[in-house]
Amino acid sequence: MLYKGKALRKTDDLISWLVEGAPPEHRNVEDITAKVMLINFAAIHTTSITTTNALFNLAARQEYIGPLRAEIEEVTRAYGWTKESMARLRKLDSFMKESSRLSGIVGLSMSRKANKDFTFSNGLTIPAGYTVAVASQGIHTDPEIYEDPHTFKGFRFCEGRDTGADSEEYDPLQQRMVSLDPTFLLFGHGRNACPGRFFAVNEVKALLAHIILNYDMKLPGDATEVPKGLWLGGSRLPDRSAEILFRKRKLG
Ligand code: HEM
Repeated sequence: MLYKGKALRKTDDLISWLVEGAPPEHRNVEDITAKVMLINFAAIHTTSITTTNALFNLAARQEYIGPLRAEIEEVTRAYGWTKESMARLRKLDSFMKESSRLSGIVGLSMSRKANKDFTFSNGLTIPAGYTVAVASQGIHTDPEIYEDPHTFKGFRFCEGRDTGADSEEYDPLQQRMVSLDPTFLLFGHGRNACPGRFFAVNEVKALLAHIILNYDMKLPGDATEVPKGLWLGGSRLPDRSAEILFRKRKLG
């Protein structure tokens, strides 16, 4: 079978890519399994924590549910449950990005180990063997970058833009959650930035869109504060014992 002029292999999946890319001495079950497990580790908890954070932020801020539902209904009516629809859910994208800016998993990002002494143009040297990282939490709450940085503004990243389902004015590459930008480091930056971010953002969007359309949600006691999470090294996790109340929506 041909795809874009190239012959497709019988299987075109992660395991075959890993087997093909491995040098002969690592082309064995143990090494390939270790790589699959490492990628599972990079992919699964990050995505579920990002979804959980967005749900807590939404349950605590009921005022966003109406506009998000309206957007999801409009976009899926016009474009179905497709990848294109995911790109057109601009308010939801902004809400997820704001949720990740303030409560995202990465407090430290872009860990890099110097294999040899490295001197920056300003004379600062990182000696060989040292690991450095960027304080993304500080950047995400820097008042010189974000106006009113500690306030949750769910539509901060689409403010002043035409977010209509059919809008073509909106530059989809700017300010989107997947965009790499030194002021938003949820997915790191540079050559080793997260390659799974396109998949992850679409996955979280599809999950949230389905939940928002089909369920009402709130925090116990109608609380409006997101339960405090905890720090595990440079990673921030949501409160693991906090609850959200869900109720199937009564439509019509
Ligand atoms: C919301 C979900 C996710 C978040 C927040 C996230 C975050 C990150 C971060 C911060 C990095 C380090 C980037 C850097 O050092 O510059 C990274 C790397 C990586 N991520 Fe993700 N990730 C997510 C989902 C995924 C998924 C779904 C996959 C795979 C299907 C994945 C695969 C990887 C891989 C393979 C790397 C290593 C890249 C390299 O070293 O070149 N991630 N991710």
